Amino acid sequence: MNTNVTVVILAAGLGTRMKSKKAKVLHEAGGDTLLNQIIRAALAVAPPENIVAVVGHQAPQVRASVHQPGIRFAEQTEQKGTGHAVMSARQQVTMSEGQLLILNGDGPLLKPETLRKLVDLNVTGALGGKIVTTRLDDPTGYGRILRDEHGMVARVVEQKAVTAEQHEINEINPGLYCFNSAVFWRHLDELRPNAAANEFYLTDMVEIIARHGYPIAPLFIEDKNQLLGINTRAELAVADTILRARKALQLMLDGVTIENPASVSIDVDVEVGADSVIEAGVHLRGRTKVGEGCRIGTGSVLRDCEIGDGTVILPYVVADQSRVGKHAFVGPFSRLRMNAEAAEGTHIGNFVELKKTRLGEGSKASHLAYLGDAVIGSQVNVGAGTITCNYDGQNKHRTLIEDGVFVGSNSTLVAPLTLGTGSFIAAGSVITKDVAPEALALGRSLQTDKPGWAKRRRGSKV
Ligand code: UD1
Ligand code: CA
Repeated sequence: MNTNVTVVILAAGLGTRMKSKKAKVLHEAGGDTLLNQIIRAALAVAPPENIVAVVGHQAPQVRASVHQPGIRFAEQTEQKGTGHAVMSARQQVTMSEGQLLILNGDGPLLKPETLRKLVDLNVTGALGGKIVTTRLDDPTGYGRILRDEHGMVARVVEQKAVTAEQHEINEINPGLYCFNSAVFWRHLDELRPNAAANEFYLTDMVEIIARHGYPIAPLFIEDKNQLLGINTRAELAVADTILRARKALQLMLDGVTIENPASVSIDVDVEVGADSVIEAGVHLRGRTKVGEGCRIGTGSVLRDCEIGDGTVILPYVVADQSRVGKHAFVGPFSRLRMNAEAAEGTHIGNFVELKKTRLGEGSKASHLAYLGDAVIGSQVNVGAGTITCNYDGQNKHRTLIEDGVFVGSNSTLVAPLTLGTGSFIAAGSVITKDVAPEALALGRSLQTDKPGWAKRRRGSKV
């Protein structure tokens, strides 16, 4: 990491072309906001204290959305252009020397290695700066690069100001600049509102600095995918697809099998251990961590979950903020939410919901159950159709099921309730009182048989 690098990220605009009430940098691609994505890349070349995000539209929300601690913020109260945004950041910039990296906040595809390349060609001394360029088949909308006779960048012409002749230029400015700090700050006051839009264009600094005898060198980048700037929802979708493809590729290179990678959707911070298999159509969101040698079944959606090594998640499991231990089986069609925890070797079957519930080691709830606000010990068998009645209309109550309990099918457990160690609940019971350890509890009327009744009934009908 280069400690002489300051990074200013321009993130104050609304992004009119998004047609959204939400500031552009708050929109998400690849499982995080555009701003967080660009901060990720910036952290490859500067410590957080050297990174300044310029915020304006919905400044409080934008600040709150940044999860990296230590990032500095500057406020641009009126959005008077990209050059004006940098002026607003001046107070927050602590180093007047070294390299000043300026990045548009709407370029989430940027790779860290590109920024490293940009700062490794140290711009100090005689050079005024470097600016990344690329060529696009259709350069519409982007600033065009005008080179001088030495191949240096003389000027950037904005879309609004291009002449018919310049229209043909397909070398564009993707919005990544590395200036010689001392030179840049010394001449920033010379920036005037651009005639075309009455805004202060950062791009005009190129001409100003070059005019003072500090050449601006181009850094041509072939891979235009990573330089895409997001202005519309259509471009947002393209960025999202690219980021997710990159994530899937990285996981595959790290030893994860992914069936039909284009069909899965994996957020940037997700971790998956080697030899795990991700079936088609899986969504892994947020901070989900999947261990080694797991299988995640098709159609499953896991958000902020931890899955232990060797665990099998069968198809169509929906889980939020929950943890499953090693060598467990979950699904198909199970629901885990609000801090549910299933320990090692547990089985959670179809149509079983766990809410704020801990299921102890080796315990099973194989079919059709609602287990809410419960603490369940180890080696417990929860029969099909078991319901914890945790809510009395006003308050939530806890059910405690101790080790080795057998809960017969279709039991209704009215909380607050404790089922003692090793106790046995007869099928179809409604249990409203605590059950002592090793006891049998029957909470239903006993069966009465009437011999011959069925035959008599049939006979009366003829
Ligand atoms: C800008 C460049 C253009 C380049 C393109 C690449 C200028 C004048 N033009 O145009 O040469 O090809 O990016 O995508 O810089 N912002 C602020 N405050 C403002 C205005 C903008 O913080 O007052 C931020 C926006 O939030 C955004 C970034 O600056 O993240 C770029 O602004 P945008 O309006 O998208 O610039 P472009 O018109 O795309
Ligand atoms: Ca833009």
